[in-house]
Amino acid sequence: MNSTPVCLCATAPPDSIVPNRVSLLRRTDSHCCAKLVLPASGQPAVVATEGSPMPLLRSALIALSRNRPLRRWSERTRLGLRFSARFVAGMEIGDALRVAETLNRQGMTVSLDSLGESVTSEAEAEAAAGVYHRLLDEIAARRLDAHISVKLTQMGLNLSPALAESIVESLVRHAQATGSFVRIDMEDSSRTEATLGLVRRLHARPELGGAIGAVIQAYLYRSQADIEQLVAEGVRVRLCKGAYDEPPAVAFPRKADVDANFIRLSGRLLDSGLYHGLATHDEAMIAAAKSYASRQGIAPTRFEFQMLFGVRRDLQRRLVEEGYKVRVYLPFGSDWYPYLMRRLAERPANMLFLARNLFRL
Ligand code: FDA
Repeated sequence: MNSTPVCLCATAPPDSIVPNRVSLLRRTDSHCCAKLVLPASGQPAVVATEGSPMPLLRSALIALSRNRPLRRWSERTRLGLRFSARFVAGMEIGDALRVAETLNRQGMTVSLDSLGESVTSEAEAEAAAGVYHRLLDEIAARRLDAHISVKLTQMGLNLSPALAESIVESLVRHAQATGSFVRIDMEDSSRTEATLGLVRRLHARPELGGAIGAVIQAYLYRSQADIEQLVAEGVRVRLCKGAYDEPPAVAFPRKADVDANFIRLSGRLLDSGLYHGLATHDEAMIAAAKSYASRQGIAPTRFEFQMLFGVRRDLQRRLVEEGYKVRVYLPFGSDWYPYLMRRLAERPANMLFLARNLFRL
Protein backbone atom coordinates (compact mmCIF):
# COMPACT_ATOMS: atom_id res chain seq x y z
CA MET A 1 0.00 0.00 0.00
CA ASN A 2 1.26 3.45 -0.88
CA SER A 3 1.22 5.23 2.44
CA THR A 4 1.97 8.80 1.41
CA PRO A 5 -0.04 10.96 3.81
CA VAL A 6 -1.93 13.77 2.09
CA CYS A 7 -2.55 16.91 4.09
CA LEU A 8 -6.17 18.01 3.97
CA CYS A 9 -5.86 20.85 6.40
CA ALA A 10 -8.21 23.66 5.42
CA THR A 11 -6.72 25.88 8.11
CA ALA A 12 -3.45 26.18 6.26
CA PRO A 13 -2.68 29.73 5.21
CA PRO A 14 -4.03 30.93 1.87
CA ASP A 15 -1.74 29.43 -0.69
CA SER A 16 -1.82 30.21 -4.35
CA ILE A 17 -4.33 32.97 -3.96
CA VAL A 18 -1.78 34.99 -2.01
CA PRO A 19 0.86 36.04 -4.49
CA ASN A 20 4.49 36.07 -3.34
CA ARG A 21 3.74 34.02 -0.25
CA VAL A 22 5.18 30.77 -1.47
CA SER A 23 6.89 30.13 1.84
CA LEU A 24 3.47 29.84 3.47
CA LEU A 25 2.59 27.02 1.11
CA ARG A 26 4.60 24.50 3.01
CA ARG A 27 2.30 22.53 5.25
CA THR A 28 3.53 20.61 8.21
CA ASP A 29 2.00 17.81 10.23
CA SER A 30 1.67 20.16 13.17
CA HIS A 31 -1.34 21.94 11.69
CA CYS A 32 -3.02 19.08 9.88
CA CYS A 33 -6.63 18.46 10.87
CA ALA A 34 -6.89 15.22 8.92
CA LYS A 35 -4.78 12.99 6.74
CA LEU A 36 -5.70 10.45 4.13
CA VAL A 37 -3.59 7.53 3.07
CA LEU A 38 -4.12 6.78 -0.58
CA PRO A 39 -3.67 3.06 -1.10
CA ALA A 40 -2.96 1.58 -4.51
CA SER A 41 -6.69 0.84 -4.96
CA GLY A 42 -7.49 4.55 -4.77
CA GLN A 43 -9.89 3.89 -1.90
CA PRO A 44 -8.90 6.23 0.90
CA ALA A 45 -8.38 5.28 4.51
CA VAL A 46 -8.69 8.03 7.08
CA VAL A 47 -5.76 7.78 9.45
CA ALA A 48 -5.99 10.87 11.59
CA THR A 49 -8.70 13.40 12.36
CA GLU A 50 -8.92 16.19 14.87
CA GLY A 51 -12.31 17.50 13.80
CA SER A 52 -13.35 20.05 11.25
CA PRO A 53 -11.40 23.32 11.31
CA MET A 54 -13.17 26.46 12.49
CA PRO A 55 -16.65 24.92 12.36
CA LEU A 56 -18.18 27.78 14.35
CA LEU A 57 -16.78 30.43 12.04
CA ARG A 58 -18.03 28.44 9.05
CA SER A 59 -21.54 28.19 10.52
CA ALA A 60 -21.49 31.88 11.43
CA LEU A 61 -20.51 32.89 7.90
CA ILE A 62 -23.18 30.65 6.39
CA ALA A 63 -25.74 32.20 8.77
CA LEU A 64 -24.53 35.66 7.71
CA SER A 65 -25.01 34.65 4.05
CA ARG A 66 -28.76 34.68 4.81
CA ASN A 67 -28.71 38.06 6.58
CA ARG A 68 -30.89 40.36 4.46
CA PRO A 69 -29.92 43.80 5.88
CA LEU A 70 -26.21 43.01 5.60
CA ARG A 71 -26.80 41.70 2.11
CA ARG A 72 -28.67 44.87 1.04
CA TRP A 73 -25.97 47.06 2.49
CA SER A 74 -23.05 45.09 0.99
CA GLU A 75 -24.48 44.80 -2.50
CA ARG A 76 -25.12 48.54 -2.69
CA THR A 77 -21.86 49.97 -1.45
CA ARG A 78 -18.64 50.62 -3.32
CA LEU A 79 -16.77 48.78 -0.59
CA GLY A 80 -18.93 45.71 -1.22
CA LEU A 81 -18.26 45.87 -4.94
CA ARG A 82 -14.53 46.00 -4.35
CA PHE A 83 -14.85 43.08 -1.95
CA SER A 84 -16.65 40.91 -4.50
CA ALA A 85 -14.37 41.63 -7.45
CA ARG A 86 -11.97 38.79 -6.81
CA PHE A 87 -14.60 36.03 -6.99
CA VAL A 88 -17.27 37.60 -9.24
CA ALA A 89 -16.63 38.25 -12.94
CA GLY A 90 -18.51 41.57 -12.97
CA MET A 91 -21.98 43.00 -12.65
CA GLU A 92 -23.15 42.72 -16.28
CA ILE A 93 -23.52 39.94 -18.86
CA GLY A 94 -20.91 41.66 -21.03
CA ASP A 95 -18.33 41.46 -18.20
CA ALA A 96 -18.88 37.72 -17.80
CA LEU A 97 -18.74 37.05 -21.54
CA ARG A 98 -15.45 38.90 -21.84
CA VAL A 99 -13.94 36.85 -19.03
CA ALA A 100 -15.35 33.67 -20.61
CA GLU A 101 -13.63 34.52 -23.89
CA THR A 102 -10.33 35.03 -22.09
CA LEU A 103 -10.66 31.73 -20.25
CA ASN A 104 -11.52 29.92 -23.50
CA ARG A 105 -8.36 31.38 -25.03
CA GLN A 106 -6.42 29.99 -22.07
CA GLY A 107 -7.79 26.52 -22.83
CA MET A 108 -10.54 26.41 -20.19
CA THR A 109 -14.26 25.92 -20.62
CA VAL A 110 -16.78 27.89 -18.60
CA SER A 111 -20.00 27.50 -16.64
CA LEU A 112 -21.81 30.85 -16.45
CA ASP A 113 -23.78 31.61 -13.30
CA SER A 114 -26.07 34.63 -13.23
CA LEU A 115 -26.04 35.22 -9.48
CA GLY A 116 -29.30 35.13 -7.55
CA GLU A 117 -31.33 32.68 -5.50
CA SER A 118 -34.60 32.34 -3.59
CA VAL A 119 -36.69 34.74 -5.71
CA THR A 120 -40.00 35.81 -4.19
CA SER A 121 -42.18 36.38 -7.28
CA GLU A 122 -42.89 34.76 -10.60
CA ALA A 123 -41.81 37.94 -12.38
CA GLU A 124 -38.40 37.74 -10.71
CA ALA A 125 -38.03 34.09 -11.72
CA GLU A 126 -38.96 34.89 -15.33
CA ALA A 127 -36.52 37.83 -15.37
CA ALA A 128 -33.73 35.59 -14.06
CA ALA A 129 -34.52 33.01 -16.75
CA GLY A 130 -34.46 35.81 -19.34
CA VAL A 131 -30.82 36.52 -18.45
CA TYR A 132 -29.98 32.84 -18.99
CA HIS A 133 -31.76 32.79 -22.37
CA ARG A 134 -29.68 35.80 -23.38
CA LEU A 135 -26.56 34.02 -22.20
CA LEU A 136 -27.37 30.96 -24.30
CA ASP A 137 -27.80 33.19 -27.37
CA GLU A 138 -24.52 34.98 -26.66
CA ILE A 139 -22.68 31.68 -26.09
CA ALA A 140 -23.86 30.50 -29.52
CA ALA A 141 -23.23 33.83 -31.29
CA ARG A 142 -19.71 34.17 -29.88
CA ARG A 143 -19.02 30.44 -30.27
CA LEU A 144 -17.97 30.19 -26.66
CA ASP A 145 -17.07 26.86 -25.11
CA ALA A 146 -19.48 27.45 -22.24
CA HIS A 147 -22.69 26.33 -20.63
CA ILE A 148 -24.92 27.68 -17.88
CA SER A 149 -25.36 26.80 -14.20
CA VAL A 150 -28.77 27.49 -12.70
CA LYS A 151 -30.20 27.45 -9.17
CA LEU A 152 -33.77 26.18 -8.87
CA THR A 153 -34.68 28.67 -6.12
CA GLN A 154 -33.77 31.41 -8.61
CA MET A 155 -36.22 29.81 -11.07
CA GLY A 156 -39.06 29.96 -8.53
CA LEU A 157 -38.80 26.57 -6.78
CA ASN A 158 -39.91 28.11 -3.46
CA LEU A 159 -43.01 29.58 -5.12
CA SER A 160 -44.03 26.58 -7.19
CA PRO A 161 -42.07 23.50 -8.28
CA ALA A 162 -44.18 23.40 -11.47
CA LEU A 163 -43.14 26.98 -12.32
CA ALA A 164 -39.46 26.15 -11.79
CA GLU A 165 -39.78 23.03 -13.94
CA SER A 166 -41.41 24.82 -16.85
CA ILE A 167 -38.82 27.62 -16.75
CA VAL A 168 -35.94 25.13 -16.64
CA GLU A 169 -37.50 23.05 -19.39
CA SER A 170 -37.47 26.06 -21.72
CA LEU A 171 -33.82 26.71 -20.84
CA VAL A 172 -32.85 23.11 -21.54
CA ARG A 173 -34.76 23.20 -24.83
CA HIS A 174 -32.85 26.38 -25.76
CA ALA A 175 -29.51 24.86 -24.69
CA GLN A 176 -30.21 21.70 -26.67
CA ALA A 177 -31.02 23.72 -29.80
CA THR A 178 -27.83 25.77 -29.52
CA GLY A 179 -25.50 22.91 -28.58
CA SER A 180 -25.07 24.01 -24.98
CA PHE A 181 -25.95 22.47 -21.62
CA VAL A 182 -27.74 23.38 -18.38
CA ARG A 183 -26.24 22.34 -15.07
CA ILE A 184 -28.60 22.54 -12.11
CA ASP A 185 -26.62 23.65 -9.06
CA MET A 186 -27.41 21.86 -5.82
CA GLU A 187 -28.64 23.97 -2.92
CA ASP A 188 -29.28 22.88 0.69
CA SER A 189 -30.54 19.40 1.55
CA SER A 190 -34.19 20.47 1.82
CA ARG A 191 -34.11 20.81 -2.00
CA THR A 192 -32.12 17.70 -2.92
CA GLU A 193 -35.11 15.49 -3.65
CA ALA A 194 -36.96 18.11 -5.70
CA THR A 195 -33.83 19.08 -7.62
CA LEU A 196 -32.83 15.54 -8.57
CA GLY A 197 -36.43 14.68 -9.46
CA LEU A 198 -36.60 17.63 -11.85
CA VAL A 199 -33.26 16.82 -13.47
CA ARG A 200 -34.19 13.15 -13.96
CA ARG A 201 -37.61 13.97 -15.45
CA LEU A 202 -36.18 16.45 -17.96
CA HIS A 203 -33.23 14.20 -18.77
CA ALA A 204 -35.68 11.39 -19.60
CA ARG A 205 -37.35 13.53 -22.30
CA PRO A 206 -35.66 12.43 -25.56
CA GLU A 207 -36.29 15.77 -27.30
CA LEU A 208 -34.17 17.57 -24.69
CA GLY A 209 -31.20 15.46 -25.75
CA GLY A 210 -29.51 15.05 -22.39
CA ALA A 211 -28.73 18.79 -22.23
CA ILE A 212 -29.23 18.85 -18.45
CA GLY A 213 -26.99 17.65 -15.63
CA ALA A 214 -27.07 17.36 -11.84
CA VAL A 215 -24.78 18.24 -8.94
CA ILE A 216 -24.07 15.80 -6.13
CA GLN A 217 -22.58 16.82 -2.77
CA ALA A 218 -20.15 14.34 -1.22
CA TYR A 219 -21.08 15.46 2.32
CA LEU A 220 -24.58 13.94 2.07
CA TYR A 221 -25.05 10.31 3.17
CA ARG A 222 -27.54 9.78 0.35
CA SER A 223 -25.10 10.74 -2.42
CA GLN A 224 -23.78 7.27 -3.18
CA ALA A 225 -27.32 6.02 -3.88
CA ASP A 226 -28.14 9.16 -5.90
CA ILE A 227 -25.05 8.67 -8.04
CA GLU A 228 -25.96 5.04 -8.75
CA GLN A 229 -29.39 6.15 -9.92
CA LEU A 230 -28.15 9.09 -12.03
CA VAL A 231 -25.40 7.03 -13.66
CA ALA A 232 -27.86 4.23 -14.46
CA GLU A 233 -30.06 6.80 -16.22
CA GLY A 234 -27.14 8.40 -18.07
CA VAL A 235 -27.27 11.76 -16.27
CA ARG A 236 -24.02 13.74 -16.22
CA VAL A 237 -22.93 14.76 -12.72
CA ARG A 238 -20.83 17.51 -11.16
CA LEU A 239 -19.43 16.17 -7.91
CA CYS A 240 -18.57 18.71 -5.19
CA LYS A 241 -18.14 18.45 -1.43
CA GLY A 242 -21.12 20.65 -0.51
CA ALA A 243 -21.27 24.28 0.61
CA TYR A 244 -24.21 24.49 3.04
CA ASP A 245 -24.51 24.00 6.77
CA GLU A 246 -26.11 20.56 7.10
CA PRO A 247 -27.05 18.67 10.28
CA PRO A 248 -25.32 15.37 11.16
CA ALA A 249 -28.62 13.60 10.46
CA VAL A 250 -28.08 14.09 6.72
CA ALA A 251 -24.39 14.89 6.21
CA PHE A 252 -20.98 13.70 7.41
CA PRO A 253 -19.95 16.13 10.15
CA ARG A 254 -16.22 15.34 9.78
CA LYS A 255 -14.28 16.80 6.87
CA ALA A 256 -12.16 13.65 6.63
CA ASP A 257 -15.30 11.60 5.94
CA VAL A 258 -16.49 14.07 3.31
CA ASP A 259 -13.09 13.88 1.62
CA ALA A 260 -13.10 10.08 1.73
CA ASN A 261 -16.60 10.02 0.21
CA PHE A 262 -15.54 12.49 -2.50
CA ILE A 263 -12.74 10.17 -3.56
CA ARG A 264 -15.01 7.12 -3.46
CA LEU A 265 -17.72 8.83 -5.53
CA SER A 266 -15.16 10.24 -8.01
CA GLY A 267 -14.04 6.68 -8.72
CA ARG A 268 -17.63 5.59 -9.29
CA LEU A 269 -18.21 8.48 -11.73
CA LEU A 270 -14.96 7.86 -13.60
CA ASP A 271 -15.88 4.18 -13.99
CA SER A 272 -19.30 5.04 -15.45
CA GLY A 273 -18.07 5.92 -18.94
CA LEU A 274 -20.15 9.15 -18.90
CA TYR A 275 -18.56 12.60 -19.02
CA HIS A 276 -18.66 14.06 -15.50
CA GLY A 277 -17.14 17.02 -13.64
CA LEU A 278 -15.10 16.84 -10.45
CA ALA A 279 -15.50 20.21 -8.75
CA THR A 280 -12.80 20.84 -6.17
CA HIS A 281 -9.71 22.93 -5.45
CA ASP A 282 -8.38 20.26 -3.17
CA GLU A 283 -5.10 18.90 -4.53
CA ALA A 284 -5.54 15.64 -2.62
CA MET A 285 -8.88 15.00 -4.35
CA ILE A 286 -7.40 15.94 -7.72
CA ALA A 287 -4.34 13.73 -7.22
CA ALA A 288 -6.55 10.78 -6.25
CA ALA A 289 -8.77 11.24 -9.34
CA LYS A 290 -5.78 11.59 -11.68
CA SER A 291 -4.13 8.51 -10.28
CA TYR A 292 -7.35 6.45 -10.35
CA ALA A 293 -8.08 7.48 -13.97
CA SER A 294 -4.56 6.64 -15.05
CA ARG A 295 -4.65 3.22 -13.37
CA GLN A 296 -8.01 2.44 -14.99
CA GLY A 297 -6.85 3.65 -18.41
CA ILE A 298 -9.39 6.51 -18.48
CA ALA A 299 -8.10 9.29 -20.74
CA PRO A 300 -7.80 12.80 -19.23
CA THR A 301 -10.29 14.02 -21.85
CA ARG A 302 -13.07 11.72 -20.56
CA PHE A 303 -13.83 13.92 -17.55
CA GLU A 304 -13.20 17.46 -16.37
CA PHE A 305 -12.04 19.26 -13.26
CA GLN A 306 -14.14 22.24 -12.29
CA MET A 307 -13.07 25.20 -10.17
CA LEU A 308 -14.45 28.54 -9.13
CA PHE A 309 -13.44 31.79 -10.78
CA GLY A 310 -10.67 33.45 -8.78
CA VAL A 311 -9.75 30.34 -6.79
CA ARG A 312 -6.50 28.42 -7.33
CA ARG A 313 -5.83 29.97 -10.74
CA ASP A 314 -2.33 28.45 -10.66
CA LEU A 315 -3.82 24.98 -10.29
CA GLN A 316 -6.33 25.62 -13.09
CA ARG A 317 -3.50 26.57 -15.46
CA ARG A 318 -1.30 23.68 -14.37
CA LEU A 319 -4.03 21.11 -15.06
CA VAL A 320 -4.60 22.53 -18.54
CA GLU A 321 -0.86 22.31 -19.22
CA GLU A 322 -0.93 18.68 -18.10
CA GLY A 323 -3.66 17.92 -20.67
CA TYR A 324 -6.67 17.81 -18.32
CA LYS A 325 -9.96 19.51 -19.06
CA VAL A 326 -10.79 22.40 -16.75
CA ARG A 327 -14.08 24.25 -16.47
CA VAL A 328 -14.24 27.52 -14.55
CA TYR A 329 -17.48 28.36 -12.75
CA LEU A 330 -18.01 32.02 -13.61
CA PRO A 331 -20.51 33.94 -11.47
CA PHE A 332 -21.60 37.47 -12.35
CA GLY A 333 -24.31 39.95 -11.39
CA SER A 334 -25.24 42.24 -8.54
CA ASP A 335 -26.73 39.52 -6.27
CA TRP A 336 -23.29 38.33 -5.24
CA TYR A 337 -23.52 38.51 -1.44
CA PRO A 338 -24.68 34.95 -0.51
CA TYR A 339 -22.26 33.45 -3.04
CA LEU A 340 -19.31 35.36 -1.63
CA MET A 341 -20.22 34.53 1.97
CA ARG A 342 -20.28 30.81 1.14
CA ARG A 343 -16.81 31.14 -0.41
CA LEU A 344 -15.58 32.79 2.81
CA ALA A 345 -17.22 30.05 4.88
CA GLU A 346 -15.30 27.44 2.89
CA ARG A 347 -12.08 29.23 3.57
CA PRO A 348 -12.21 31.94 6.25
CA ALA A 349 -8.55 32.72 5.48
CA ASN A 350 -9.89 34.38 2.33
CA MET A 351 -11.27 37.20 4.49
CA LEU A 352 -7.73 38.29 5.23
CA PHE A 353 -6.86 38.02 1.59
CA LEU A 354 -9.86 40.10 0.47
CA ALA A 355 -9.20 42.70 3.16
CA ARG A 356 -5.62 43.05 1.94
CA ASN A 357 -6.86 43.51 -1.62
CA LEU A 358 -9.27 46.21 -0.48
CA PHE A 359 -6.49 48.34 0.90
CA ARG A 360 -4.35 47.80 -2.19
CA LEU A 361 -7.08 49.03 -4.59
P1 FDA B 1 -11.93 22.29 0.64
O1 FDA B 1 -12.86 23.34 1.19
O2 FDA B 1 -12.11 20.91 1.15
O3 FDA B 1 -10.45 22.75 0.88
C1 FDA B 1 -9.33 22.00 0.40
C2 FDA B 1 -8.28 22.94 -0.18
O4 FDA B 1 -8.78 23.55 -1.39
C3 FDA B 1 -7.92 24.11 0.72
O5 FDA B 1 -6.96 23.77 1.65
C4 FDA B 1 -7.44 25.13 -0.30
O6 FDA B 1 -6.13 24.84 -0.70
C5 FDA B 1 -8.35 24.91 -1.46
N1 FDA B 1 -9.56 25.79 -1.40
C6 FDA B 1 -10.81 25.39 -1.24
N2 FDA B 1 -11.68 26.42 -1.29
C7 FDA B 1 -10.94 27.51 -1.49
C8 FDA B 1 -11.24 28.88 -1.63
N3 FDA B 1 -12.51 29.37 -1.59
N4 FDA B 1 -10.20 29.74 -1.80
C9 FDA B 1 -8.94 29.27 -1.87
N5 FDA B 1 -8.60 27.99 -1.76
C10 FDA B 1 -9.57 27.11 -1.57
N6 FDA B 1 -21.43 23.45 -3.59
C11 FDA B 1 -22.75 23.13 -3.48
O7 FDA B 1 -23.23 22.88 -2.38
N7 FDA B 1 -23.55 23.11 -4.59
C12 FDA B 1 -23.07 23.36 -5.83
O8 FDA B 1 -23.82 23.32 -6.82
C13 FDA B 1 -21.68 23.68 -5.96
N8 FDA B 1 -21.12 23.95 -7.17
C14 FDA B 1 -19.76 24.10 -7.28
C15 FDA B 1 -19.17 24.25 -8.53
C16 FDA B 1 -17.79 24.32 -8.63
C17 FDA B 1 -17.17 24.44 -10.00
C18 FDA B 1 -16.98 24.27 -7.47
C19 FDA B 1 -15.49 24.31 -7.55
C20 FDA B 1 -17.58 24.18 -6.24
C21 FDA B 1 -18.95 24.11 -6.12
N9 FDA B 1 -19.55 24.02 -4.87
C22 FDA B 1 -20.90 23.72 -4.80
C23 FDA B 1 -18.77 24.30 -3.64
C24 FDA B 1 -18.19 23.01 -3.05
O9 FDA B 1 -19.23 22.23 -2.54
C25 FDA B 1 -17.19 23.32 -1.94
O10 FDA B 1 -17.85 24.01 -0.90
C26 FDA B 1 -15.99 24.13 -2.37
O11 FDA B 1 -15.55 23.76 -3.65
C27 FDA B 1 -14.83 23.93 -1.38
O12 FDA B 1 -14.44 22.58 -1.37
P2 FDA B 1 -13.06 22.10 -2.04
O13 FDA B 1 -13.23 20.68 -2.41
O14 FDA B 1 -12.77 23.01 -3.20
O15 FDA B 1 -11.95 22.30 -0.98
